[in-house]
Amino acid sequence: MSEMATELHSEVQRRRTFAIISHPDAGKTTLTEKLLLYGGAIRLAGTVKARKAAKHAVSDWMEIEKQRGISVTSSVLQFDYDGFRVNILDTPGHQDFSEDTYRTLMATDSAVMVIDVAKGVEDQTKKLFHVCRQRGIPIFTFVNKLDRHGKSPFELMEEIENVLGIRSYPMNWPVGVDGNYKGVYNRRLAQVELFEKGGAHGQWVMPSTVGTVDDPAFADILGVDAHRALCDDIELLDMAGDEFDIDKVLQGELTPMFFGSALTNFGVRPFLEEFLKLAPKPLARKTVDGPIDPTNEDFSAFVFKIQANMNPTHRDRIAFIRVCSGKFTRGMSVKHVPSGKSVKLAQPQQFMAQERVIIDEAFPGDVIGLFDPGVFGIGDTICSEGKNVHFADFPVFPPEHFARVQAKDTMKRKQFVKGMTQLTQEGAVQVFRQPEIGVESFVVGAVGVLQLEVLEYRLKNEYGVDISMHHLPYSVARWLDGYQEGKTVKGLDSGVIIRDIQDRPVALFRNEWSVRWATEQNPHIQFLLVPER
Ligand code: G4P
Repeated sequence: MSEMATELHSEVQRRRTFAIISHPDAGKTTLTEKLLLYGGAIRLAGTVKARKAAKHAVSDWMEIEKQRGISVTSSVLQFDYDGFRVNILDTPGHQDFSEDTYRTLMATDSAVMVIDVAKGVEDQTKKLFHVCRQRGIPIFTFVNKLDRHGKSPFELMEEIENVLGIRSYPMNWPVGVDGNYKGVYNRRLAQVELFEKGGAHGQWVMPSTVGTVDDPAFADILGVDAHRALCDDIELLDMAGDEFDIDKVLQGELTPMFFGSALTNFGVRPFLEEFLKLAPKPLARKTVDGPIDPTNEDFSAFVFKIQANMNPTHRDRIAFIRVCSGKFTRGMSVKHVPSGKSVKLAQPQQFMAQERVIIDEAFPGDVIGLFDPGVFGIGDTICSEGKNVHFADFPVFPPEHFARVQAKDTMKRKQFVKGMTQLTQEGAVQVFRQPEIGVESFVVGAVGVLQLEVLEYRLKNEYGVDISMHHLPYSVARWLDGYQEGKTVKGLDSGVIIRDIQDRPVALFRNEWSVRWATEQNPHIQFLLVPER
């Protein structure tokens, strides 16, 4: 093996790139912070205190996030643990669902689903879970807030199966009574991990000397009743539960389940250690010409997110790329596949909490931010010069919320158009024109309502433009193939035809029923969910 091949091989082996998904308030931020702490990536005092005071997460960048206490953008955090190089992709945790979240999940190799023990599987978790499921990525479950009252572990297993349709395998099991658990039993290591209130690490570990749960030594520390109940539960799990099957885990058919409490540091370190062992390293990615292995020495990566004005003092645009194969080195020239242009990647950045660090190299699984000279678009591939890589199925999401927007002050039109153009390039919203309404206003479409609010906020804060926004009563967009200019589209009812940024005709409908009706009435027109590329 060449030196490069050996290096690539060992770097890929130790990479773990994952996203943490949850419904707001389940504890994703707290868990992320604890994982970072164990990885030594942040110091204890500053961040945790600052978070308490300011109530915002390490990954929050934009003012709007701080004001609303939500995380709108996704960031990337990296640390080393036990020989592993860990990349956590943070997904927005707010109620509203955005394309940003979907795209981040395109860049991940596995997902950790955080569930609040009292609330079980919630709406946002369901949606995020389904995206992971569609991609077939492995999902690990962390049941959080075990220091509090909650649902029983069996009830949660059943809920995960019924609501999400995936079987679960508890890696550990709570001991004691609900609301006052003494700790968890680690099934693989046959050890009891006791919950120490106020303890420095939140736990105290007692391995079994005989290697099974019915070790009498456990009865001494747990009490006879709690120990008997634990033995009964474990027996039931061993007999009636699923067997642990790593292949099923890796195919996303079985979720390893961990119980713990991020706030009190309980069960977090054992979870991290087990998770890193089980989670997949970066795997081959599909391209239209067949899979490309991460250890392939030809470099390839794709842009999954673009963000403008991350730092208000440097008006810049950052394109986040996920490296898929080969080694990235600072200053290398690559081919930007959609344009065929050669681009020099001079100042690659990595993002750690609020800081940026210039990096010299990166490997498959890593995410880096590149200054975007204006050539990158979401979903674009970059690869070694002389090569041609096209990654398969990068999803495009049809907008479901629409509004007409206009600058309040017509003198600000220039800034308005500039802001709209840049924010559209980020992919936060899609912009359409309605020719008969004139050039002063745009129609914008977004996957979630929050994106429209973010648009309004950012136009004001970053471009100094106040806008008026009028929400439109449509919820479905269809790109029209076979539409003839000037000819009526039958059955459009209260729908409307507008133009996307490339001047392609798009019909907006109130609901799916209207789409079906128009489809039947116009057999010569195809009503496409996403535009043809
Ligand atoms: P999110 O990112 O998923 O939205 O959740 P986040 O970590 O912000 O946690 C939401 C709330 O739940 C926070 O309380 C946090 O302290 C609490 N929490 C997280 N993990 C645990 C846990 O293991 N046990 C208990 N009891 N609570 C937990 P908050 O009052 O909203 O905020 P804060 O004042 O504590 O920052």
